[in-house]
Amino acid sequence: VPVPTDLAHARDLDARDELAPFRDRFVIDEPELIYLDGNSLGRLPRETAARTQDLVRDQWGRRLIRGWNDGWLSLAVRVGAKIARVIGAATDEVLVADSTSVNLFKLVVAAVQARPGRTRLVTDDLNFPTDVYVMQAAARLAGPGYGVDVVRSPDGIGVPLDTLAGAVDERTAVVVLSHTAFKSGFVYDLAAVTELAHRRGALVLWDLSHSAGAVPVDLSAAEADLAVGCTYKYLHGGPGAPAFLYVRRDLQANLSNPIAGWFGCADQFGFGEEYVPAGDLRRFLSGTPPVLSLAAVEPGVDLILEAGMERIRRKSVGQTEYLIALWEAVLTPLGFRLRSPRDSGSRGSHVALGHPEGWRIARALTERMKVIPDFRPPDTLRLGVSPLCTTFAEIHAAVQALRMVVEERLFERYSAERSGVT
Ligand SMILES: Cc1ncc(COP(=O)(O)O)c(C=O)c1O
Repeated sequence: VPVPTDLAHARDLDARDELAPFRDRFVIDEPELIYLDGNSLGRLPRETAARTQDLVRDQWGRRLIRGWNDGWLSLAVRVGAKIARVIGAATDEVLVADSTSVNLFKLVVAAVQARPGRTRLVTDDLNFPTDVYVMQAAARLAGPGYGVDVVRSPDGIGVPLDTLAGAVDERTAVVVLSHTAFKSGFVYDLAAVTELAHRRGALVLWDLSHSAGAVPVDLSAAEADLAVGCTYKYLHGGPGAPAFLYVRRDLQANLSNPIAGWFGCADQFGFGEEYVPAGDLRRFLSGTPPVLSLAAVEPGVDLILEAGMERIRRKSVGQTEYLIALWEAVLTPLGFRLRSPRDSGSRGSHVALGHPEGWRIARALTERMKVIPDFRPPDTLRLGVSPLCTTFAEIHAAVQALRMVVEERLFERYSAERSGVT
């Protein structure tokens, strides 16, 4: 049955949404602004605004250096333990530090060193550029003969397991993939891919940036080796918030951090001349964390845990399904193509729509219609659903705005030249 395209239906879906009350837990100063870019930068939790004020004014302002012993020193581990519960890891397998790019570097280099004689690093062409750049750098550092193999997606949307399997063999040191692809939203079967790599003796490193807080992940059940991810997307950590990294417990003592620093050594305040790494995951810390940003990650993670990944996923699937149904009914005649998997089982929390005028449509939406999507070249609009904040009525309004921008050719008023953050 076709989905009703009227606003009353959207309102009815909102009225029946069990997570609807969570929207009030966020700072929403401009309720008429339709924000569909939580997959790039999540909204600000009210609690974070209050806690940041306390952190700056009272903790830094009054406690000064004593703040480290009051709790700053353990933040990386403490917040990591909470994120662990979101991604199905044990509490001593996750910590928060550095950026996703830097954590990728640390873990890719460690993985390659842990598989001597294996010279191939495998990824796919759906992966985020930073992942590939880091892998290329790690391969160069490892020496001659090392290199990155990029598996091609047949349709630009997903990669079948068989296709991936063809690229993983006894020469593979590590497979690095985004669990949820940043452009199409395609989701890999994490357990199946991990098992495939293990059968061939390779390690797997998962980039969970577009999954954590939106798509359920069970690293322990899959016996996944390594993972990293952003906290500023669906975890609502804030712009530039430090990232998380995961190393399965039994691997921790055998992997070396290439950015050996004093925060990762066994006796940080012994100030010894020789680097002796911590016996546990803390060896993957490097230097002093950005305490203000790190502390700001916690309230968003608390909200995710309170809502629960199961309910979050149910709403996310309901909302992307609704968006795709509206696309089919309203937007297909206007030239929009679905660039995400149709099957919700292999789709994350955003929907990608292709249109030859994608960039100018994105501009018109942002500047004229008060709808914020984002844009990925050459022609893809991403519409992200942030399950704790997004309403069905907003999705309805965004589709109506897309229709109007194209029907009335409002995009023609904007320049085709790209600039700034897109
Ligand atoms: C999948 C993925 N990996 C890595 C990154 C980059 O992370 P960072 O810039 O924090 O290093 C992003 C950023 O959006 C991303 O989407």
